[in-house]
Amino acid sequence: MEVIIKPDYDQVCAESADIIREAWIRKNDLVLGLATGKTPLGLYERLIGFYKKGGMDFSSVVAFNLDEYLGLGETHPQSFAYYMDRNFFRQVNIRKENAHHLEGRPADIEEHCRAYENKIKGVGGIDVQVLGIGKNGHIAFNEPGSALSSRTRLKILTRETVEASRPLFKDERDVPRFCLTMGIGTILEAKMIILLASGKDKAEIVARAIEGPVTASVPASVLQFHPRTKLVIDEAAASELTNRSYYRWAYENKDQVIQRPKK
Ligand code: GLP
Repeated sequence: MEVIIKPDYDQVCAESADIIREAWIRKNDLVLGLATGKTPLGLYERLIGFYKKGGMDFSSVVAFNLDEYLGLGETHPQSFAYYMDRNFFRQVNIRKENAHHLEGRPADIEEHCRAYENKIKGVGGIDVQVLGIGKNGHIAFNEPGSALSSRTRLKILTRETVEASRPLFKDERDVPRFCLTMGIGTILEAKMIILLASGKDKAEIVARAIEGPVTASVPASVLQFHPRTKLVIDEAAASELTNRSYYRWAYENKDQVIQRPKK
């Protein structure tokens, strides 16, 4: 894991956007896995900025949303499909057929989840997976207790997740209690993972995820098994990390690694 500590949220977004742009430069038909929530909004703004200035072209980019509330159609303002469309897709030139999302109202849930996994495999897997982290350590909607090898499936949301979303829904009957989410096993197959975190209220869970034991009780801790994960976090979110001075030092010095000549 590479822990990249930036002074503030704005620079977390700038760094993450640069990582994605560099990946796109190497592979124009980049396959992105994308997260919702507040945290990645600034990242999407930066990517839109690259597009508008001609620094990035999304015509060959493929995207897969991580998760969706069960029961919400894609035009519901709180659905994740709508979030991605409003905050990102409609502002760049990604093709509609390349912007994939889990449906909130599939005819057959199991079949839909299987087909989603197959679509990901069909394009050669996810190159860069963007993640946020829930205060309880969830990634996507893999709530604590999720199997570390889980695949895309239906999950029951925790009470705290339900409560967190309640203020966003005008109609109590719409408040989601279930979701479809990529599994932890699905996420771990991404070639590179970038987890963004910002703010003091994420500091404790970030420390448990990065420096605590790997456990299904903190789903994000499984990223310790992933060989190419970058955790891009601000000072506030990093404030409870024991080894933060080492992470800073390693990041500052990584360009100075001496390439030893091969014998
Ligand atoms: C939701 C999403 C996650 C996201 C998390 C954190 O639960 N399913 O993908 O990472 O919220 O959201 P925020 O960035 O708003 O803290």
